[in-house]
Amino acid sequence: MAFLGGQRLRRTRRTAWSRAMVRETVLTPSDLIWPLFVIEGQNEKTQIRTMPGVERLSVDLCVEAAKAARDAGIPALALFPNTPDHLRSENGAEAYNPDNLMCRALSAIKSAVPEVGLIADVALDEYSSDGQDGLVRDGEILNDETVDVMIRSALVQSQAGADIIAPSDMMDGRVGAIRAALDDEGHEQVQIMAYASKYASCFYGPFREAVGSGSRLKGDKRTYQMDYANSDEAMREIEQDIAEGADSVMVKPGLPYLDIVRRARDSFNIPIYAYQVSGEYAMIELAAAAGAIDRNGAILESLHAFKRAGANGVLTYFALEVARELAR
Ligand code: PBG
Repeated sequence: MAFLGGQRLRRTRRTAWSRAMVRETVLTPSDLIWPLFVIEGQNEKTQIRTMPGVERLSVDLCVEAAKAARDAGIPALALFPNTPDHLRSENGAEAYNPDNLMCRALSAIKSAVPEVGLIADVALDEYSSDGQDGLVRDGEILNDETVDVMIRSALVQSQAGADIIAPSDMMDGRVGAIRAALDDEGHEQVQIMAYASKYASCFYGPFREAVGSGSRLKGDKRTYQMDYANSDEAMREIEQDIAEGADSVMVKPGLPYLDIVRRARDSFNIPIYAYQVSGEYAMIELAAAAGAIDRNGAILESLHAFKRAGANGVLTYFALEVARELAR
């Protein structure tokens, strides 16, 4: 049988060695950023009902996790505190308490495992009594007042040992304001990874259980997080954050937004990260538990998809397991 130009595209797929030779995308441990949920206590872990296999860890266990991450070749951890209820308040002042849970986790990990990069989330939902990422007045999420709090939060985190400040709040102007404050206070080496195009998404449900903000949240986050119908607007968000001094940008959620990752890759010359968020994790785990999909295959396939779309790296709850697997 004759084909146009003699082409048979199956020829290079026929054997394992040939498939390996023509493979376009590789996944390595250095592509993986591991999110950790921090709780108070000593040698304490708690289960997250909607995230089977992920546990909240006390600071001492976070240090152990950081050692495991380092040994597996994971470059950085992203920390999220589950603030005790009595410390949550309307003004979220715990966010800039230099001795808060986040800061204690940052400094404990930094002194025990200095080789691992520490990414500190900056947003109010982990500290406020209403679960919103910003200050609330008469049902409005305040922008500039929230930015002032974000600055104070970023400063205590940098003081405690954060290497990368990651504002996930989606207030306007926060990247530039945080950059200026960091520079003023001698933290010019601290990076900013901007949650640049973060969508108002259903896929954050399990995360909100993990940090304890979900049951408090009234309403939604659609006045600051993006509308899932939009793509051009995501490019404006990214452009803005780069102009304000972001060192890298993030697209979030991950798999349902790979078009945004690819478009950002083609439009901007800056490191781009994608967040395989809690709901995506839960979908894989729960579908696998129900016998619907092959768990390990689905994990590797989804992570390669991020690389194929052009992401420099992925925040994923599967990071440790996959990094260890890749090293074997
Ligand atoms: C909040 C924040 C969220 C996530 C990271 N930071 C949730 C939200 O915006 O409601 C979600 C991460 C995940 O779902 O895994 N500042």
